[in-house]
Amino acid sequence: MTQTITVIRGDGIGPEIMDAALHVLDALDAGLQYEFADAGMVALEKHGELLPAATLESIRRNKVALKSPLTTPVGGGFSSINVELRKRFDLYANVRPAKSHPNTKSRFPSGVDLITVRENTEGAYSAEGQELSADGDTATSITKTTRRGSERIVRYAFDLARRTGRKKVTIVHKANILKSTSGLFLRVAREVAAQYPDIEANELIVDNCAMQLVMRPEQFDVIVTTNLFGDIISDLCAGLVGGLGLAPGANIGTDAAIFEAVHGSAPDIAGKGVANPCALLLGVGQMLDHLGMHDKAARLREAIEATLEAGDSLTPDLGGTGNTMAFAKAIAKRAAA
Ligand code: NAI
Ligand code: MG
Repeated sequence: MTQTITVIRGDGIGPEIMDAALHVLDALDAGLQYEFADAGMVALEKHGELLPAATLESIRRNKVALKSPLTTPVGGGFSSINVELRKRFDLYANVRPAKSHPNTKSRFPSGVDLITVRENTEGAYSAEGQELSADGDTATSITKTTRRGSERIVRYAFDLARRTGRKKVTIVHKANILKSTSGLFLRVAREVAAQYPDIEANELIVDNCAMQLVMRPEQFDVIVTTNLFGDIISDLCAGLVGGLGLAPGANIGTDAAIFEAVHGSAPDIAGKGVANPCALLLGVGQMLDHLGMHDKAARLREAIEATLEAGDSLTPDLGGTGNTMAFAKAIAKRAAA
């Protein structure tokens, strides 16, 4: 049976990097069928809404989506479409690999190979109960942590480690200060960790984790943490290995999964054909793994590495003079069967 995926071409540089990604995916001969669906500004203009029902239905049906960045209009009471998608499909695990690549403006050209697993649905980042007092001088919000939410994300991280041959999971928290919320997360994480005797588990307080990541990132393997800490830590990790143009992310739930680049729609370079397609392509790699096509995922990653190493078609963000499609074609040539 042919697997169909929902493809959201997105806003700004979205269509450019998606064309590039699909070009490489075709060269890999993964046998995927594409069902195109609109979201973001392009959907607002075409259908009068940012996230049309037909798009949600497509993701529900196909269970797998490849998504380019979407522009959330500023003002007008629009909430983030990405957050909305995570909520709709209960995409509880945000999985962000960070690996050293050759020929990138990175402080760590080798040695970094870690994955941040971020809880994606609760905690301070979920922005529950955001309130401002009538006089505008006091702001409050609710940070909710649940046993269910903590357990499933920590279990996801340990299962991921086991499945991919990784050795260690670092539980990142602030339980010394946030005794109830982060405390519950840590307690549940310890319980889950005890069920994986084959995987080493250790604990780090989030501020120390940030320092350790900058000083000795090689010591990390899998990091599991709550929503807001994960948001910040994973961007730090992207910064360790060359920045946003190389950072992919997967949003995984029980019934659906959405694969994307971490970066946004980059309006400053949109339409110029110079966006780096690697972040989305690395997201394609995560998607192929998710679909069980591990050989093709590995071949794609090797082709990306080899193209970065060769360095002849790099986009300007990597110090090259190449363009999006030329870069993608160089990768596709290496990835072709
Ligand atoms: P951004 O990530 O779009 O851009 C930040 C900087 O990085 C810009 O200078 C941009 O040119 C550069 N950059 C980003 N991706 C690049 C790539 N592939 N190749 C080369 N350079 C790249 O962040 P910004 O400007 O804060 O947000 C722009 C829009 O994107 C906003 O509307 C925001 O809401 C949206 N956004 C969407 C996301 C998503 O759909 N997942 C995630 C983050 C932001
Ligand atoms: Mg972010």
